[in-house]
Amino acid sequence: MKPIRLGLLGLFILIVTSAGMAQSVRFDPARKLWFLSTRSTSYVLGINEENGVQHVYWGKRVAADGDFAPAHLASAYGFETREGLTAEEYPAWGGMRYAEPCLKVTFPEGNRDLVLNYDSQKISADTLEITLKDIRYGVFVTLSYRVFPRFDVIEKTVGIENRTKQPLLLESAQSGVWHLPQGQRYRLSYLHGFWAGETRLAQEPIDPGKKILESRRGNTSGQASPWFAIDALGAADEEHGNVWFGALGWSGNWKLVIEDTPYDQVRVVGGFNDFDFSYPLKPGERLTTPAFYGGYTDLGFGEASRLMHRFEREAILPARSADHLRPILYNSWEATYFNVNEPAQKALADKAAGIGVELFVMDDGWFGQRNDDRAGLGDWYVNPQKFPNGLTPLIHYIKSKGMKFGLWVEPEMVNPKSDLYRKHPDWVINFPGRPRTEGRNQLVLNLAREDVKAYVFASLVKLLSENNIDFLKWDMNRHFSEPGWPEVAPADQRKLWVNYVLNLYDILDRLRARYPNLEIESCSGGGGRVDLGILKRVEQAWTSDNTEAFDRLTIQDGFTHAYAPKVMMDWVTDVPNLNGRSTPLKYRFLIAMMGSVGIGANLNRWSEQDFALASKMVAYYKAIRATVQEGDLYRLASPREGELTASQYVSRDGQQSVLLAFLRSQQFLRPAPTIYLRGLDENSNYRLISIDDKLMEKGDVLSGAYLMNHGLNFNLTGDFDSTSVTLERVK
Ligand code: GLA
Repeated sequence: MKPIRLGLLGLFILIVTSAGMAQSVRFDPARKLWFLSTRSTSYVLGINEENGVQHVYWGKRVAADGDFAPAHLASAYGFETREGLTAEEYPAWGGMRYAEPCLKVTFPEGNRDLVLNYDSQKISADTLEITLKDIRYGVFVTLSYRVFPRFDVIEKTVGIENRTKQPLLLESAQSGVWHLPQGQRYRLSYLHGFWAGETRLAQEPIDPGKKILESRRGNTSGQASPWFAIDALGAADEEHGNVWFGALGWSGNWKLVIEDTPYDQVRVVGGFNDFDFSYPLKPGERLTTPAFYGGYTDLGFGEASRLMHRFEREAILPARSADHLRPILYNSWEATYFNVNEPAQKALADKAAGIGVELFVMDDGWFGQRNDDRAGLGDWYVNPQKFPNGLTPLIHYIKSKGMKFGLWVEPEMVNPKSDLYRKHPDWVINFPGRPRTEGRNQLVLNLAREDVKAYVFASLVKLLSENNIDFLKWDMNRHFSEPGWPEVAPADQRKLWVNYVLNLYDILDRLRARYPNLEIESCSGGGGRVDLGILKRVEQAWTSDNTEAFDRLTIQDGFTHAYAPKVMMDWVTDVPNLNGRSTPLKYRFLIAMMGSVGIGANLNRWSEQDFALASKMVAYYKAIRATVQEGDLYRLASPREGELTASQYVSRDGQQSVLLAFLRSQQFLRPAPTIYLRGLDENSNYRLISIDDKLMEKGDVLSGAYLMNHGLNFNLTGDFDSTSVTLERVK
């Protein structure tokens, strides 16, 4: 067996780490075990007797880490090897291994066997790097861990490096595998959907075999979200039970494989989708996988999402987002569609400012020859017929009303009817001689090409330097097809899937560095690009093009399982809406208040009563938004389960709490169910301030114990009724 090479620095680190209790990463050389500790969880891995790195434990914190025995290989069965049955930390495809591998490689001479063993390590206070190496070849794989103690989250990324003298081909490159305790029955929770029906929560038992969640569409997509939660079969609810959860930070083709092996080992492998994946690495080259985040709690799905929300707000979102609440946004799309011009936008701006809007966004239609969705994408100059004086007078006007100015862009796309396409028909993703399938009359620019990337970046820099723009709504309204990149060698063409996304990230990162006050919303025909990779680069995400309030309850409920209410953009729009449904304006406003509020209605059609109610609602939201956006969310009643939906938010200092409650339809004169609050201090008193007369409890001041145990009753009646109560802790 190969000795562990620690070196002088390693020894020094070891001494320092053993001495300092605050360290979240520790190595015990005697047992060859690493301990990754968060506030409430432990993640343990070790080097086994064959020098392989294997998973030992992931779950509730075990402070007595002396209890853990060294890692050792499983026992063999007739048709399996010990390695194949062991919970390896990063199994490559080689030897007798039949579960989903993390890495699959082909060498030029045809060898496809790869077996990774421990090589070296590096430890800091909250990071660990373990380097693995193939038993024969110079293929080095560095597993990087970062521990986020306050959020009970661990990040895994993997660097794969070719230190051989020949090129090699990666056929699958995953970010890692999360192993669940062996031998239990589990349930999977995941988010699925489609355009206008994104992020809906599904739950099902994990049975033997594989469940695959993925995108093959070029971006994250609304078909599924790169997030999972797993609980012991049926044992967890919002408040109780063991929940293991995870998410990928990648905005391109991704894949999660949830597998229950024949030996009752449940594992989740995630990373780049290996479908149509082929990534050559020349000697000296390295590929880094997306980040794969994982966490654990024994306090149910509610705490799992609160941990994710805090983690996203404090460790994922751009740094400036931490000190900025999301402004109340108005978007002109549903009022004017493509028919934008200065007077019409100014008229809307007057009305929006009148109800307290803080950010006015002009949507599609302002550029190129963009009169409908058949032309103009790619030509990012201001349309001279619609804006003969440019955008400056409109922007001045909007700012004079005390609002910020935002603009819609879709930089990754081109309409064949555009100057750009006429000049550069080769700039789109395509296979020569094959159809160029259009989606919404547009084609996808090949951002993997350096010249295309430079054009997109330069167009945005020109736009942002000529106009005083505070915010971009960055859209992407189709998925990939015919994903060819004919300008590079056939062996390199499939790098497109990865390099497109890396270049998109690069454009966003450089724009943000150049315009530090610029804020961005990620939109892809609705919630098609929401993941922890894009959320590092944007302040907010468009949840769904479906703004019908009742449908939104389900979409938003699912969204909050994985993503923070602060990034969840919710608009109030007009009725009748999708499904031919009409709901009261108050109901629509309160549903929008479950996240960050926008208004997308046609204000030209609103009555005086509508404006009066909207002003009241906007003022109310301003009073509670710090709690909604920065506080802890408790999903008290889910739209998946009954007629009542209720969400409660508690500010981080515990001083304010907000309840939002919705009744779908009353039947048989039945009263609405009692609502039991959560997250309060039993021994504190709270002053109740109701926005209407629906609260049936008489006292103005009630104790936390009463609110959480006796609960509150509301006179919610008819269809689509709603209410909200604010609780202020009394000194
Ligand atoms: C997409 C967006 C909409 C709107 C239109 C504009 O569909 O999701 O909100 O911006 O594009 O064309």
